[in-house]
Amino acid sequence: MSKVAKILSAATIGLDSYLVEVEVDIGLGLPSFTIVGLPDKAIDESKERIRAALRNSHVSFPEHRLTINLAPADIKKEGPSFDLPMAVGVLLASEQIGNSIDLEESLFIGELSLSGELRHVNGILPITMFALERGTKRIFLPKVNAGEAALVHGIEIIPISSLEELIEHLRGEKLVKSYKVPKVCKVEETAAGQFDFAHIAGQEQAKRALEIAAAGNHNILMSGPPGSGKTLLARSLPSILPAMTEGEILEVTKIYSVAGLLSNRNSLVDHRPFRSPHHTTSSVALIGGGQWPKPGEISLSHRGILFMDEFPEFPRSVLEALRQPLEDGVVTVSRASGTLTFPADFLLVAAQNPCPCGYLSDPEKRCICMPTQIMRYQKKISGPLLDRIDLHIEVPRIKYEKLATRESAESSKVVRGRVEKARNIQRERFGGLPIHANSAMSAKDIKIYCQLEPEGEKMIGLAVDSMRLSARVYHRILKLARTIADLDDSANIKAVHIAEALQYRPKEKMY
Ligand SMILES: Nc1ncnc2c1ncn2[C@@H]1O[C@H](COP(=O)(O)OP(=O)(O)O)[C@@H](O)[C@H]1O
Ligand SMILES: [Mg+2]
Repeated sequence: MSKVAKILSAATIGLDSYLVEVEVDIGLGLPSFTIVGLPDKAIDESKERIRAALRNSHVSFPEHRLTINLAPADIKKEGPSFDLPMAVGVLLASEQIGNSIDLEESLFIGELSLSGELRHVNGILPITMFALERGTKRIFLPKVNAGEAALVHGIEIIPISSLEELIEHLRGEKLVKSYKVPKVCKVEETAAGQFDFAHIAGQEQAKRALEIAAAGNHNILMSGPPGSGKTLLARSLPSILPAMTEGEILEVTKIYSVAGLLSNRNSLVDHRPFRSPHHTTSSVALIGGGQWPKPGEISLSHRGILFMDEFPEFPRSVLEALRQPLEDGVVTVSRASGTLTFPADFLLVAAQNPCPCGYLSDPEKRCICMPTQIMRYQKKISGPLLDRIDLHIEVPRIKYEKLATRESAESSKVVRGRVEKARNIQRERFGGLPIHANSAMSAKDIKIYCQLEPEGEKMIGLAVDSMRLSARVYHRILKLARTIADLDDSANIKAVHIAEALQYRPKEKMY
């Protein structure tokens, strides 16, 4: 006679979750322990953890023929998070616990340590959302993951710190209280941090460009000599971005959950991400992927800012891989079986020196680079990539009198007020459409929403011909002009708006 127990669990591939059934069979025969449905190495490690965790939780490990199957078999599963459902299955099949609660209505997830403690697992937020959707009543998970799960309302969350505690709960000896936290979504204030526009002297043109970038979610490239304030400007950009909506908060938090970057004290990403990966970061860490695909920096900056300092120093392959997400707002990464997409709708802020020594554009300091060096440096960023950047600005070294001024400039709060106003206009314009800012308009949307006044029409016509602009650039200029018009509270795009948008085209190369 053999006994079979079935326990439900779940796993994620990318941001999607799916159900995993853990079947445990205890049969007669010589003691053995077989797991099917996991990759080889993970199986061995899981076996050891389950065996030790059971022994250290004052229950016995059955000395019979023990077989565990993880279904569906055709989906590759990542190891550790199934430790807990497997251990519970073993306990149930060996009748060390009874089915006191309706186990069919419960989901179990967690990694065990040898002593039976529960460890943090990745992707709890999407799994909990999935559990709620399929109508599961409760989810048992590691206590350290409870905060992120609690963002989902309508499902009972039982935080478990050790296997022993769970056994007592399932035997009805000592119940674990379900996890509840007050609703934590606070969306009034963005985290301005220590950077504020008020502390940046001069640089009016750069600040104006950043304001436009924030208002319409346009990518920006800053070029200037070392020490001119490019990094400072980029770091101040979050302080003028509009607050996140609740929907965006959940969307971004889900990505951080899968990346394993949340903790109970920090379970919610409630301000726009600002990521600034170094140029030596590996391309998998930047773009995403790996054997068990994880979101990269470009997905961690979803709905926020990706700051790439020293832009031309990034490997060419990384720069080229940016093209697709910059166009589509998602990134496709390949994995063992097929491909996978992660959201990657970020605002790119890139900074570069104009040449290797940095002083090519400086009117007073002499550049010491060879023309070929300059050419090689500037060529690293390809035309198609440059095309996807709407705002190109020069950040000059500012003069002493400006730097030393005691007057403080306009504060970020004031600028953010204008940005929010322009965003509200866009929200009204796009209504229920999945367009969250002007930069996300397609060619078709541009026809509908970018009405030009005759003077503006004439001006852009001249520009396209004389500057030999591509269709993509033409569309990008219209979108940028749309944002400039929104900041100006103007229903139609006027010639001045087009004129300003054209200013932000890249300058002719200097070699
Ligand atoms: N406009 C400015 N107002 C105030 N401080 C500035 C300004 N520009 C630069 N600085 C100061 O100079 C330092 C170097 O600037 P940084 O942004 O790192 O330059 P870059 O990135 O262009 O090399 C910053 O730490 C900042 O304190
Ligand atoms: Mg810098």
